Amino acid sequence: MKNIIAFAGSNSKNSINKQLVKYVSSLVEETPVNILDLNDFELPLFGVDLENEKGIPESAHHFLKLIKESDGIVLSLAEHNGAYSAAFKNIFDWMSRIEGKTFYGKPMLLMATSPGARGGASVLEIAKDRFPRHDANIIKTFSLPSFYDNFLDGNIVNEELNLELKNNVKVFQNSL
Ligand SMILES: Cc1cc2nc3c(=O)[nH]c(=O)nc-3n(C[C@H](O)[C@H](O)[C@H](O)COP(=O)(O)O)c2cc1C
Repeated sequence: MKNIIAFAGSNSKNSINKQLVKYVSSLVEETPVNILDLNDFELPLFGVDLENEKGIPESAHHFLKLIKESDGIVLSLAEHNGAYSAAFKNIFDWMSRIEGKTFYGKPMLLMATSPGARGGASVLEIAKDRFPRHDANIIKTFSLPSFYDNFLDGNIVNEELNLELKNNVKVFQNSL
């Protein structure tokens, strides 16, 4: 049976990107979705000296294995100062040292949300440009702006955005 992994590029306990990921998981039909949390993959700050001295931590191998064994990836990136959060960049850097084709060609639904009106547009652009170089197969992207206006009680309340996301999820599922 096919399986999807879903996670937020954030280590915040109350991550709004994780809330979005959970909502998307509820829209996926039939295929099981394994929601991951970066907090469960403890990693020291990447550094070449640490890598040389101690090697690559088990958590990075574990996360990469979950990607490799999945049939699709749902990822929503937090935007910190216009870029990846440190937590996401850290696990990405570690994994890229094990495997440059970090995303193994898996179909990906790539998203971002933020409280601001741009909805993480900057980090989304960075990832859209970069991830294919790591063998990501980005099927659809979605940005949810003004999270606290558009997302209430676990649902997107803006009809237009909700419809757009639902269509994206369908296209993503059909690509698996
Ligand atoms: C250090 C830091 C930098 C931030 N920079 C941005 C930014 O550049 N653009 C933006 O839209 N929001 C920015 N924010 C606000 C985040 O979008 C907000 O904290 C959001 O909740 C992060 O997603 P998360 O809850 O999934 O971690 C920043 C927040 C922090 C803590």
